[in-house]
Amino acid sequence: MSVERAQACVNVAAIERNCARLRGELRPGVELCAVVKADGYGHGAVASATAALAGGASWLAVATGEEALELRSAGLARTRLLVMGALTPPELRQALAADADVVAWRERDLEALARAGGGRVHVKLDSGMGRLGTRDPGEATRVLAAARAAPGVEPVGAMTHFATADELHDDGFFAAQLQMFAGWAAQARDAQRDLVLHAANSAAVLRDAGAHFDLVRCGIAIYGMDPFGEDPAARALEPALELSSYVAEVKRCAAGESAGYGRRFIAERDTHLAVLPIGYGDGWRRGLSNNADVLIAGRRYPLVGTVSMDNVTVDLGADGRAERLRGEPAMLIGRQGEERITAEEVARRLGTINYEVTCALTPRVSRAYHRDGAPLEAIERAQIESAVGAGSAAPPQGGGEPHTRARQALDAGAG
Ligand SMILES: Cc1ncc(COP(=O)(O)O)c(C=O)c1O
Repeated sequence: MSVERAQACVNVAAIERNCARLRGELRPGVELCAVVKADGYGHGAVASATAALAGGASWLAVATGEEALELRSAGLARTRLLVMGALTPPELRQALAADADVVAWRERDLEALARAGGGRVHVKLDSGMGRLGTRDPGEATRVLAAARAAPGVEPVGAMTHFATADELHDDGFFAAQLQMFAGWAAQARDAQRDLVLHAANSAAVLRDAGAHFDLVRCGIAIYGMDPFGEDPAARALEPALELSSYVAEVKRCAAGESAGYGRRFIAERDTHLAVLPIGYGDGWRRGLSNNADVLIAGRRYPLVGTVSMDNVTVDLGADGRAERLRGEPAMLIGRQGEERITAEEVARRLGTINYEVTCALTPRVSRAYHRDGAPLEAIERAQIESAVGAGSAAPPQGGGEPHTRARQALDAGAG
């Protein structure tokens, strides 16, 4: 059995099925945008995007211009792509070089866009998130009208983002945001019939069909994590990522002996300790010190002592079985036999959200991709092309080649 020091194994088939499952929530004609920012929430942006398209997504979204260029450079040339973040002028040029749509909410955003050569824009109403977008529906309407008049600028979308979609007892805040957006969006649609209206993240998709509009932007759920922090299985979501290491050493630990920095574990009885060569340098956070379980040979064992940069220790117990576990794979997130550790469990222990658990995995963790157990050596071009072909969106203006040329121009400093 081959083992790795620290590896994230991603099942692309699970991402495909999660996307198909989410699409099943949508009425015909509503499109799914797969959010693959932050390297696909730690799963790998290109592999995740490819799988999401195969599973029925027809748009992709990222946060930065660089992330957009990464997808285009990997061959995802024709899919509609939205950059959702605030952009500095160089980042705006990157987004446009990637032939991506961008977000705006002030007239000066449109001026910057026109100066950068123009492009497709989604106007954002801040209906309560209090981050990007304008709080003033009147201003949002004026920006849409100005976009129609600005040279080279094409208003294509009207959007908002929910602050509490994942909080089912939010005292009506979600409903109030939805009502504000729906009112503004209806007027925007009256002025421009072909605007794409979108608001919902994963939680909103699962919570309220009234929030779906024309397009939904799903991140966490496409990776099979639960947007409400609960067991993903309860909403028929399938975690795509498993995080593993292996038992590099097994040693006896007598009662009274300690392990790790600060001696935060002192054995109360004779036992055996396993050393797994994974630590906070891999994104397995120090807050999991004396505060996580690990699966080895199908059983749960407690992580004991302090998580260090490169190692953790696990209490294997006193029995003779421990010695036989040297070299065994160790699952930190994932399934072994009947046992399962979810990103949600890890998040609960850390007092954070599942998003942060997978996003925290550092580049030192190798990524491996498989389809229900069959390894994918590389995400091959042919597979990308066929997945893109399966997407329903019309190719954006410009096709594939221009952004390759634009990227070269940017790389050469001409952008
Ligand atoms: C603007 C916007 N839309 C959609 C999403 C996707 O959210 P989720 O991962 O909860 O589905 C995000 C993610 O943070 C976002 O920032």
